[in-house]
Amino acid sequence: MSTPAVIILGIESSCDETAAAIVCDGKVLANVIAGQKVHECYGGVVPEFASRAHQTNIVPVVNEAVQKSGINKKEISAVAFTRGPGLLGSLLVGASFAKSFALALGIPLIEVNHVQAHILAHFIKASDRQAVPEFPFLCLTVSGGHTQLVLVKDYFEMTVVGTTIDDAAGEAFDKAAKVLGLPYPGGQVIDRLAAQGNPQAFCFPEPKVPGFDFSFSGLKTSFLYFVKDELKKNSGFIEERKNDLCASIQHAIVSCLMKKLTSASRKFNTRYIALAGGVSANSELRRKFAEAGSENKWHVFIPEFEYCTDNAAMIAITGYLKYLKQDFTNQKITALPVFNL
Ligand code: KG4
Ligand code: ZN
Repeated sequence: MSTPAVIILGIESSCDETAAAIVCDGKVLANVIAGQKVHECYGGVVPEFASRAHQTNIVPVVNEAVQKSGINKKEISAVAFTRGPGLLGSLLVGASFAKSFALALGIPLIEVNHVQAHILAHFIKASDRQAVPEFPFLCLTVSGGHTQLVLVKDYFEMTVVGTTIDDAAGEAFDKAAKVLGLPYPGGQVIDRLAAQGNPQAFCFPEPKVPGFDFSFSGLKTSFLYFVKDELKKNSGFIEERKNDLCASIQHAIVSCLMKKLTSASRKFNTRYIALAGGVSANSELRRKFAEAGSENKWHVFIPEFEYCTDNAAMIAITGYLKYLKQDFTNQKITALPVFNL
């Protein structure tokens, strides 16, 4: 007799995306995401608006995921949710929903660390032939809230070997975009405009931070003052040089990330190297990562595009791996806005 399938409902609500996914034995059957346009005109996420939007979206998003997956709710083995890190009001919506869902169906509840889930997105099975990183591997996690170099010894044995001492890489992209008057979130807009620009057009000072830590606030400030100074001389500066500005700031951010990643791979003597988090969708980072991979003979791994930015499939796959260890939580659990690896 074959063992019954393990079906996990994953819920993600840590920031401004309400997402639900169904994963069956490690394969994604449905992955639904509702973004929140309400923040666009504020140039950043407004926490109170985010929690309200999660409340409106959560039931329809979960229903859509279940419908798309073709399963019946009663077949779900467990519900996994993002416990943190993230915005408290947003996390509470996902946590409360997941707790009620588990209680109503009498199934186990699984807590997930969002940053860990970005890394474990590498284990989502697109096909049985898909290569996954071998342990130990080094993962550069770059998102709107985190920039970390993580040594991954096993699914749930991770050591942070480097982190940002101020802004995250995604934040640096978003803040540079704001200086240029681009819409939020600006990372992908910078990426698109940079494709038409010259990355060597402007040079910004490289942050000097010891070890494997990162810093982006100095870069952000020098970009801001440079643009302000140029605008004093020519009010059309941004419009005339937008693509070059995007390409140059993108180049500066990506080169900081790649330098630290390359030196950490030497220090930790690992050739299995992975990227994770929203910024891993960036085309220059992906290109430079692939180039470094062939130069250094790395085995390189980047999740599918849709699993790089916030999504619930990564929460569900983490839930699946925890389910296999029977690592469940209980109804007393609460959201955790600060949740270290
Ligand atoms: O992982 P994620 O979706 O959310 C967090 O956990 O923070 O990452 C969002 C971040 C934002 O800062 C966004 O601007 C950035 O990822 N991002 C990009 C690109 N796509 C998303 N940054 C640069 N280039 C991109 N193509
Ligand atoms: Zn994220």
